[in-house]
Amino acid sequence: MTKKIHILAIETSCDDTAVGIIQARVFGQKLKEFKVVSNEISSQADLHAGYGGVYPALAKREHKKNLPLVFKAATKDFDIKKIDLVAVTAGPGLDPCLWTGINFVQEMLSGNKLPAVPVNHVEAHILANFLTKKIGEDAFRKTYLPAVALAVSGGHTVLFKMNDIGKYKLLGQTRDDAAGECFDKTARILGLGYPGGPLISALAKQWSKRKKKTIKVSMPRPMLNQKNYDFSFSGLKTAVLYYHKKQKPALAASKEYLEAMSFEIQQAIVDVLVAKTMKAASNLKAKSIIIGGGVSANELLRKTLKTVAKKQKLKLLMPKVDYCADNASMIGVAAYFANKRGEAVMDPQDLRSDSNLMIQESDN
Ligand code: KG4
Ligand code: ZN
Repeated sequence: MTKKIHILAIETSCDDTAVGIIQARVFGQKLKEFKVVSNEISSQADLHAGYGGVYPALAKREHKKNLPLVFKAATKDFDIKKIDLVAVTAGPGLDPCLWTGINFVQEMLSGNKLPAVPVNHVEAHILANFLTKKIGEDAFRKTYLPAVALAVSGGHTVLFKMNDIGKYKLLGQTRDDAAGECFDKTARILGLGYPGGPLISALAKQWSKRKKKTIKVSMPRPMLNQKNYDFSFSGLKTAVLYYHKKQKPALAASKEYLEAMSFEIQQAIVDVLVAKTMKAASNLKAKSIIIGGGVSANELLRKTLKTVAKKQKLKLLMPKVDYCADNASMIGVAAYFANKRGEAVMDPQDLRSDSNLMIQESDN
């Protein structure tokens, strides 16, 4: 008989306050599929725009203010007594923000006996693919594993091997800025606004369509040819800064220049992400590539990976664009599997944040 498990999930690790409910349909201890019951998000992007990035104290204040409202919206059509499990992001992320979510769960569960699951945000970005592909856990294992996973967002750029759900091997990560951070910071240098990824992507598209091109720019692809799976994006940011500072103000503000720069920045970031991911997939004989995180919404990244994966006869999983950026549903998905691994706590006071939380490593 199919059992339905309802998970209430809360995500406050960065600048999005997200609450949602997902239903896990389980048959004989095995996940058959997830169904999203509600998925509410309140984004603070506009508030942080003036800082060109997320300002932690402000983010915390906003989470505190917004959580009860987002919670209300996410639960308004649902009988809360049907919740079996509560999930909350424990890390990585901004510590004051993580604690807002944890404290909210602690208060909500006081005097209540529901188990609470601390969730790894990076793992959740990859498991968000369960929301796109209606697939059971056994079929997922059989079709896609072992996989090489790339979690790429404003806060993280992590490449890891996925041997099983919950069994990972870290391959590499950024040594400085994350890929999304590089989009955001270079967009700020160019005076484009925040978040930078979608703005740069849109301008790059216009450059591709532009008939008359009088500008040629060339930016570095940091660590592209190094024999490791690490990334570094701060060098690209600095190269953009120095190049931009040297330009005459009229040119630096021109549409053609901003399009050319956006195109080159996006291409440089995508070149590095794709090359390292493909190298890992080939060296480790992976069956598939799985991506997730805000930057996985990038059209060029998606298109390029599609082409190269097809060439290499690799399967490719990318979240629906709606589930690339931070959301509560992906936290619910990760919590379902974490709970099966025995990671739930019975006393919510035992929940802790870990702003540098790593993905769970396992040798097999
Ligand atoms: O996953 P996410 O919502 O938050 C973090 O966990 O960091 O990712 C946000 C990041 C931002 O840096 C934003 O610029 C980037 O994702 N992003 C994009 C695109 N959409 C969002 N980057 C490139 N292209 C996009 N279309
Ligand atoms: Zn994220």
